[in-house]
Amino acid sequence: MTRCSRPLLQCRIAALLSLALVAIACSKTSPPVEKEAAPAAAPAAAPAVEPKATQVEVFSWWTGPGEQEGLDAMIADFKTKNSGVEVINAAVSGGSGTNAKAILANRLQAGTPPDSYQRHAGLELADDIKAKKLEDLTSLYESKGWKTKLPKGLLDAITIDGKIYSVPVNIHRANLLWFLPKTLQSLGIGAPPATWKEFLTQAAAITKKHKTPLAIGPGWTQKHLLETVLLGELGAEQYTTLWKQPNEWQSPKVAAALDTFKKVLAFTDIKSSAPDWQPASDRVLDGAAVYFVMGDWLDAYWGRAKKLKFKTDYDVVETPGSSGVYDFLSDSFTLPVGAKHREAALKWLDECGSVTGQDLFNPQKGSVPARTDADASKYQGYLATALAAWQNPKTVIVGSLTHGVVANNAVGSEIDSALSLFVASGDAATFAKAVAKAYTVD
Ligand code: GAL
Repeated sequence: MTRCSRPLLQCRIAALLSLALVAIACSKTSPPVEKEAAPAAAPAAAPAVEPKATQVEVFSWWTGPGEQEGLDAMIADFKTKNSGVEVINAAVSGGSGTNAKAILANRLQAGTPPDSYQRHAGLELADDIKAKKLEDLTSLYESKGWKTKLPKGLLDAITIDGKIYSVPVNIHRANLLWFLPKTLQSLGIGAPPATWKEFLTQAAAITKKHKTPLAIGPGWTQKHLLETVLLGELGAEQYTTLWKQPNEWQSPKVAAALDTFKKVLAFTDIKSSAPDWQPASDRVLDGAAVYFVMGDWLDAYWGRAKKLKFKTDYDVVETPGSSGVYDFLSDSFTLPVGAKHREAALKWLDECGSVTGQDLFNPQKGSVPARTDADASKYQGYLATALAAWQNPKTVIVGSLTHGVVANNAVGSEIDSALSLFVASGDAATFAKAVAKAYTVD
């Protein structure tokens, strides 16, 4: 492996991308049943006096149909195990946490954090660790025996200086292209596109038939699309290099990929884009649009909330050019320093890290479990294919840009601003320069 010149956690993410395969392969030998361990030992730095643990405030952005059910299922199980502890579900709506993250930032700044909040594993979490906003959860992991229950690469993404700072509940996949087989049939399209070039050819024909080739939503969905175009056009290795060698952003290959992105974007409904990912996907459901690039939380929305049947009513393939690659992200929950109900928050984290909690949550959420010893039989339809791909030693794993794995919050928001200018102006060179710069400023 080449020597990493980036900060520690970023190097670890690089390691994650190579180590995850080993870890996942090892996971197959893990025992199938969760060890019921003794109650968590309190991590260090417990406040001296603590209010009675009668409630726990859980902060996330899961309010939409499908994802809300997943969260509710975990909350219901928590209540069964912790009678008398009230759960305050402080979820703030808005896909990819756009609104929630802003509110959370204010609360962290003001020193009034929720008792536990959602953060993506990876550099997004590293920000909070560096700012000393989070408690070290290593002793919780040790008392529960969790260190051997998570893929090594994922553990690396939530660890700094040997200490673990969050509890991952799931693994999501970002590089997915969703569609309805009946729409493809009606347009005479034999198969979804395997490359972005093929997409552009199909898109030209689709436009002539007065449909939108690709639905799109707000800024973060455009970034999500960009990440999949980069992945498909550059390949997994060079995509990963982007997060380690910022100069790569100004290479001819990236210029060509950004040009493809511009062409792809021209085949979307961006001029009247939907306000969030669910209404954007509705345009595919009602036949106005043909394809939608989105993470597998869409499976929860279409499969569960809309009650559609996988393969017959809707289907999914890897985004063009990314066959065999898993562009991953993971939602995790934390224990902020200064949590008012710390003891109850530890119990919530116990729920998040348990096999039961993960197997209740993930089938409804449209994700696969973070734990390697969960019950595979609970993952059916699309999720069975996701689990098989995640556990396949041949799968190449890369980290998501939009969902916190390879970019910290500062870099992420620089990219957001540069991208909205790029989308408006079409000036790819200025965008590439801005991103390269964002990555060199720490
Ligand atoms: C991601 C998150 C997913 C899902 C998605 C859409 O950032 O990790 O769990 O919530 O946003 O909101």
